[in-house]
Amino acid sequence: MAAVDIKKGLAGVVVDYTAVSKVNPDTNSLLYRGYPVQELAAKCSFEEVAYLLWNGELPNETQLAEFTARERAGRALDPVVKSVVDTLPTTAHPMDVCRTATSVLGARHELAEDSSPEANMKKAIDLWAAMPAVVAYDQRRRRGQDAVEPREDLDYSANFLWMTFGEDPVDEVVEAFNVSMILYAEHSFNASTFTARVVTSTLSDLHSAVTAAIGALKGPLHGGANEAVMHTFDEIGIRSEESLEEAATRARAWMEDALAQKKKVMGFGHRVYKHGDSRVPTMKAALDKMIAHYGRPELLGLYNGLEQAMDEAKAIKPNLDYPAGPTYHLMGFDTQTFTPLFVASRITGWTAHIMEQVASNSLIRPLSEYNGPEERHVP
Ligand code: COA
Repeated sequence: MAAVDIKKGLAGVVVDYTAVSKVNPDTNSLLYRGYPVQELAAKCSFEEVAYLLWNGELPNETQLAEFTARERAGRALDPVVKSVVDTLPTTAHPMDVCRTATSVLGARHELAEDSSPEANMKKAIDLWAAMPAVVAYDQRRRRGQDAVEPREDLDYSANFLWMTFGEDPVDEVVEAFNVSMILYAEHSFNASTFTARVVTSTLSDLHSAVTAAIGALKGPLHGGANEAVMHTFDEIGIRSEESLEEAATRARAWMEDALAQKKKVMGFGHRVYKHGDSRVPTMKAALDKMIAHYGRPELLGLYNGLEQAMDEAKAIKPNLDYPAGPTYHLMGFDTQTFTPLFVASRITGWTAHIMEQVASNSLIRPLSEYNGPEERHVP
């Protein structure tokens, strides 16, 4: 039997073209439609970036006004979605709630069976506009609180925080949240995006593809890592009275012990980036601002201690989930809500890829090499 070159995990395999984003691991760079993500995070709103991902160009003033009006008009929590969410136990993982809500929104969409470019664009904007209400309400109901109505005078990020906490959001916090939404929006053929493209390639609908993508994102090797980072911090112990240095020392000891036990520590490493994740410096800067804003240096101590010990032992660098986790914690999100925040953002990238797949489709159907028993027969 000729040896077959199996590419386990499709590592290193280029499966298609994409014009949505470019990840360059050699230069640690990430471009959305040609624009460096750091520039977008510094100069744009998440709404502008969503428009860019879907349309290929940044909006002019008129286009942005029309686009934001559509987003603001679609923010209310769908009463049917709310009633379905209410049937789920509050112990259900919020990713399961997001997945279920997406499925319900798909089944109820006026263009459910239409996958034309116009219908898909409408579905993408509708789903993107609707998801913050689902994520916010789910966190609130787990705390025994009612849903908060959206506010048309706030932008996407400020309104998301408003609907989650029911308080006027502080500008600095909105800014950090906006940065996180932009950084999480798109990352080429990662596992969940590829999942969405596989589903789309069968000529299934947009909501089915996003529902499947949410399932893929839930895993701790992918989006679930931002939640897992916080579990690590909790396991080490967050002690608000501790100095930065004391926290760093304890974190280093924890990491040395974890690595001695050959544990995988979530929030570190990446399939594509091997010398650092292009998005980390921007997200870390946002985390630093939040640490200063909330006056919590001990969290920076934990962050630094883990990062330094990992670097010294294995030279493995943090990925985006590492600074994002503690940032969301400081803002007041429940740890379980972190990956749904990633969903709310990544809906933009997923659906941009879905539309690209539809425009140039070929059924995604790889081969496998059989290694089971030789042919045999039922006695
Ligand atoms: N902690 C400890 N060791 C790690 C590690 C981590 N987070 N990430 C990679 N490694 C080690 C592996 O143990 C392996 O070591 P070995 O060669 O001695 O066995 C080596 O680095 C290669 O790791 P591997 O898992 O084969 O690389 P990959 O390209 O398949 O993995 C990830 C990429 C992301 C799956 C992996 O780095 C990981 O599991 N990270 C944690 C989850 C995470 O943060 N995911 C979010 C990604 S954005």
